[in-house]
Amino acid sequence: MASSNSLPTSTPVQIHAQNVLMKFQKNTLFRVDELNFKQGDVIYLQGDNGSGKSTLMKILAGLIKPTEGVILDQGFTPKPWWQTDSLLGKAVYLHQHPYLFDGSVKYNLTYALNQLKLTPSERSSRIKQAINMAQLNDLLSHHASDLSGGERQRLAIARAWITQPKLLMLDEPISNMDKHSQRLVLAMINQLKQDGTGLLISSHQTCGLTALCQQHWHIKQRTIHTSMHVPTVETVHQTNTTELHYGTTN
Ligand SMILES: Nc1ncnc2c1ncn2[C@@H]1O[C@H](COP(=O)(O)OP(=O)(O)O)[C@@H](O)[C@H]1O
Ligand SMILES: [Mg+2]
Repeated sequence: MASSNSLPTSTPVQIHAQNVLMKFQKNTLFRVDELNFKQGDVIYLQGDNGSGKSTLMKILAGLIKPTEGVILDQGFTPKPWWQTDSLLGKAVYLHQHPYLFDGSVKYNLTYALNQLKLTPSERSSRIKQAINMAQLNDLLSHHASDLSGGERQRLAIARAWITQPKLLMLDEPISNMDKHSQRLVLAMINQLKQDGTGLLISSHQTCGLTALCQQHWHIKQRTIHTSMHVPTVETVHQTNTTELHYGTTN
């Protein structure tokens, strides 16, 4: 995996995948000639369960290496010479079952802020906004392990929002979630979109999230098809039992 940071900082922040082949043992999961994920993009990543959505996101996050191909990054502020300038931490991957620190909700929210250079008033205003967005006010003193699935996901997205990532990948962010949490998560994702965060959002089925997206990546038949046409909830309901719709529009 290669990393390139020699471009001026005005270059839009992006991750670029070239000639990627992913195999587990001898089985090809997917291949793709080219993918580009940049700041401002809002991409719906679709694919059946087991098609490789999580694996693709982990590759773009630098967490695993593809069998073949390169992942390049551009436009990020170069790290100081004494730090390894790897892909890690550039496109942030948010797991479907997010890892939370062993501590309270408040601890989880504020911990990430310690790594940022913020004035005390910026710090408290960001925390306040995150708490309001995720509606965590009544849960601040609760231990993270006591939260429901929806509350955990809200906390994880609020924590990510606080650190202002330029590229964020959300893996099935609203699956198995109550309607209230779904609405809040949608609003938080919309806020991230308004902030200009590049978003790659996976789901095995079209849902409310997809209405926010402007591009479509679809893993099918071991290939990643890219398109500027995002399927709507209605179109998918009409063609729920067949993949033909996608075959004709992408
Ligand atoms: N580390 C691994 N070793 C072997 N097979 C794996 C590994 N990680 C994922 N797989 C397999 O790759 C396929 C795709 O997994 P995944 O990326 O999680 O799919 P999706 O997120 O689309 O459901 C699955 O069949 C899964 O079992
Ligand atoms: Mg997955």
